Amino acid sequence: MKKWVIANFKLFKTIEETSAYAKKFKPLVTNSKNNIAVCPSFVSLESMARLFKGTKVLVGAQNCAKIAEGAQTGEVSAKMIKSAGAKLVIVGHSERRNIFAETDEIVNEKIKLALIEGLTVVVCLADDGSKGFEKNIKKQLETLLDGVEDVSKLIIAFEPVWAIGTGKTMATKDIEIVVRYIKEIAKKITGKTLDVLYGGSVNANNAKEFLELDAVDGLLIGGASKDPITFAQICNM
Ligand code: PGA
Repeated sequence: MKKWVIANFKLFKTIEETSAYAKKFKPLVTNSKNNIAVCPSFVSLESMARLFKGTKVLVGAQNCAKIAEGAQTGEVSAKMIKSAGAKLVIVGHSERRNIFAETDEIVNEKIKLALIEGLTVVVCLADDGSKGFEKNIKKQLETLLDGVEDVSKLIIAFEPVWAIGTGKTMATKDIEIVVRYIKEIAKKITGKTLDVLYGGSVNANNAKEFLELDAVDGLLIGGASKDPITFAQICNM
């Protein structure tokens, strides 16, 4: 089945490095059946979008501003991201929440602005999937989806914080339970079935077992996406 495979480069790779990556990666995934996206830093968006133009690979940003425009030094708006040629944006990543104090209310504003610009939005939940996750996830989804009318371009990512960059992954049976719950609540709120991704220490050795889970619609990958050959390997699963 066709799934999402999304690379998050985080604070890695210069423009030269992302360009070299794109050139190496592009021919490796021409026959992939999956939906692929790569999310470099803002400064590489335009060149990456140009390099992937006409291919199946979407280019995305890792964050966007919480207002459309204004006096917010250093921020980058959803409209600017779109004008750079990107088609997707990740919002509410746990690193944004933990290091930059982003709340669900802030992420909700970002989702709405990005959807206005026609971007595909990958919204990350901040839950570790431990006992009692239902209450937290329900509360989060209610805030994140508040006032979001058209969810056709909205994707949810479930990444247990303890699994991000640690080499530890969640047991597949537990992922299925949490992901199914996320879908159930999101459907109650929006009336639609949303795609839900798993993320957290996914690599070329374990990706297949996650991609084979019925409930999981794809993967959000940090560390293992930094090497084009490894990431292409996962994209081709
Ligand atoms: P990781 O990161 O694959 O390096 O664990 C995932 C993420 O933060 O999106």
